[in-house]
Amino acid sequence: MRIDVVTLFPEVVLAPLSDSVIQRARQAGVAEVHAHQLRDWSTDKHRRVDDTPCGGGPGMLLKPEPLFAAVEALRREDTLVVLMTPQGRTFKQALARELSGASHLLILCGHYEGVDHRVVEALVDLELSIGDYVLTNGAVAAAVVCDAVIRLLPGALGDDASPLDESFSDPALLEAPAYTRPIDFRGMTVPDILLSGHHGNIARWKREQALARTRANRPDLSE
Ligand code: ADE
Repeated sequence: MRIDVVTLFPEVVLAPLSDSVIQRARQAGVAEVHAHQLRDWSTDKHRRVDDTPCGGGPGMLLKPEPLFAAVEALRREDTLVVLMTPQGRTFKQALARELSGASHLLILCGHYEGVDHRVVEALVDLELSIGDYVLTNGAVAAAVVCDAVIRLLPGALGDDASPLDESFSDPALLEAPAYTRPIDFRGMTVPDILLSGHHGNIARWKREQALARTRANRPDLSE
């Protein structure tokens, strides 16, 4: 998979993707990530990319010309163009899985009060929000999407099976609590059942715990 990100903050996008699992996946050729400076497509002598909203209103909007030029330079036949915006569809694990099947993602990051709507209408296939809160810009959100998608690609994780039994694989259930050694830490002990070696009972216990945790932390998921 190839991912191109167009942003005012390329280094913000790349920093969280330049360590650990994602960095190794990139080095192994599982995913290729390129972050581009939007200002490189500005034709303004001051490299401006924003202007005030027509009809008034607060803040500044990203102008259409640099975004159109960026998309026209980077888009291929197989490209899915994604715009990071708090007005978008909410990013969930199922959507991460769907996007991991794409061969080329071109991610545009909003900034200021957003982007000129002609960009959305003419260029964007998917408007994407990482949650119901407003970030200062889309670069952090784009990095979140890249991380969640890249780790699902074959070969990204050491053990390809591990994304399957984690929270949100079953769309309505969180993971059961997990423990490692020492068995007794400051008097807090690992539940006996996990040491019993009885796989059937352990599986049943995990299911019950997963349900209890879901009801406690995410009642919206069990509705
Ligand atoms: N830009 C600002 N806030 C955002 C959000 N919640 N998701 C995606 N992009 C954003």
